[in-house]
Amino acid sequence: MRNTLPEPTTVHWHGMHLPAQMDGGPHQEIPAGGQWRPTWQIDQPAATLWYHPHPHGRTEDHVYRGLAGMFLLDDQAAAGSALPHQYGVDDLPLIVQDKQLDDDDELDLDSDGNEVGLLGDTVMVNGTVAAVQEVTTEKVRLRLLNGSTARTYDFGLADQRPLDLIATDGGLLPKPVPVPRVLLSPGERADVVISLIPGEDVMLRSFAPDLGHIAAPFAFGANDSFDVLRLRAATRLARSADLPGVLAEPSTEAEPSTEALPSTKAETVPAAPVTREFELRGRRINDRRMDLGRVDEVVPAGATEIWQVVNRNRYPHNFHVHGAQFRIASIDGNPPTPALAGLKDTVYLRPREAYQLLIRFGNYPDPAHPYMYHCHLLLHEDKGMMGQFVLTDGSVPAEISVPPGTHRGAH
Ligand code: C2O
Ligand code: CU
Ligand code: CU
Repeated sequence: MRNTLPEPTTVHWHGMHLPAQMDGGPHQEIPAGGQWRPTWQIDQPAATLWYHPHPHGRTEDHVYRGLAGMFLLDDQAAAGSALPHQYGVDDLPLIVQDKQLDDDDELDLDSDGNEVGLLGDTVMVNGTVAAVQEVTTEKVRLRLLNGSTARTYDFGLADQRPLDLIATDGGLLPKPVPVPRVLLSPGERADVVISLIPGEDVMLRSFAPDLGHIAAPFAFGANDSFDVLRLRAATRLARSADLPGVLAEPSTEAEPSTEALPSTKAETVPAAPVTREFELRGRRINDRRMDLGRVDEVVPAGATEIWQVVNRNRYPHNFHVHGAQFRIASIDGNPPTPALAGLKDTVYLRPREAYQLLIRFGNYPDPAHPYMYHCHLLLHEDKGMMGQFVLTDGSVPAEISVPPGTHRGAH
C-alpha cells in the first residue's frame, strides 16, 4: 500500500481473519508518502469483504471521501456452485454510500450531521449517482456493501418481489432465504440473487428502515427512502441456472456454531464459553473511551466466546469485531431470523435489545498488537466508541507498545 495522501492513513481489511499486525487498524499507520506491505494467508470461506482506512480519529472523513473497496474471497465450493459468478456480468459489486453535495455538486465536507453523524441526501453506487446497470442474464447476484459512514439502508426491489439472500458478512448461508428486504447498517454486507424477465426495468431501492425504538426516526434516517440502482434487462437474457438448494456445508471447524452453546439437556455439559458484556452508550463502550495504549480485553487465541452487546441509547449503534466472524446466538433471548443466522462481523443494534454473539477467535497469538471492536457509525468510532483486544497463548501478559506519533486524541 502506498499512501500518496498528504496525511497519514491506514488500510483495514474488514472481515478478514489475519494476524493483528496485518489488520490495518489505527496501530498500522502509513505516514504520508509512506508504504506498508502486509502479508497473510487467506484462511476463511468465500465472502464479500471490504477494505477502508482506519486512522485514529479520522476514519469517518477518509471513508466519506470515498476510500473504500471490496475484497472478494472465492473458493472452490463457491466457484463450483450454480450461483451467478461472472464478475461484472451476473455478479455485481455494489458499494453504497450516501453523500451530501453542495450547489456545485461537490462533496460537502462541512456538514456537522447529528448524533449519528452525517446523513447525505444523495446515494451513490460505486461512486455513481442515479446508477443504471444493463442486465444480460436471467439472474444477477448483487453484492451489497453499506459503505456509508452513518446511514442504514433497507434494500429491496420497488415492485416488492422477493430477493434470495445467499450470503451475509462472512460467507454463504446454508441455503437461499427469500426475503422482502435486507437491512444493512454501516459496514455490513449481503449477497442477494434476483430474477429478471426480458425487457423489464427494476429499481433497487432503499426503503424506510425499521431501526427499532429510536427517539427521533426522522433525524436518524428511519423515514428516508432512495432509488439506488436501476436494473435494465435486455430483451434477450442468457439462461441462468436454478439456485442450488444447499449453498454451504454445515459449519466447519473454522467457524463458530451455536451448537457449541452448553445445553442443559446434554449428559456431559461442556464448559460454558467465557461471556463478556459490552454496553454502548453515547460515544463510549462500557463507560470507557478508546485509548490506543489500553488493552480492554485479553482473549485466548482460538477461543470461542460469547460477547453480549447492548445499545443503551435511543439512537442507532452497531457493533463490529475485527479479525473474526461471529454468529448471533440470540437477540433478547430469541433465536435470530434466518437472515441474521449466518456468519457476521458487524451487526445492527436495535436500542435496548441484548445481542449474544458467539465468536470464534483466530489462532494468531500476539500480545503486543491489538485488534479493535467498535461501533461502525464512524463518527462514534472516531469519538471513542471503540475498544481493543489482544489474542494471547497465555504465556505472556499483554503489553502493547504504542508507536510514536499515534498518541493524538480523537479529533
Ligand atoms: Cu470496518 Cu474497524 O472497521
Ligand atoms: Cu473491521
Ligand atoms: Cu454508535
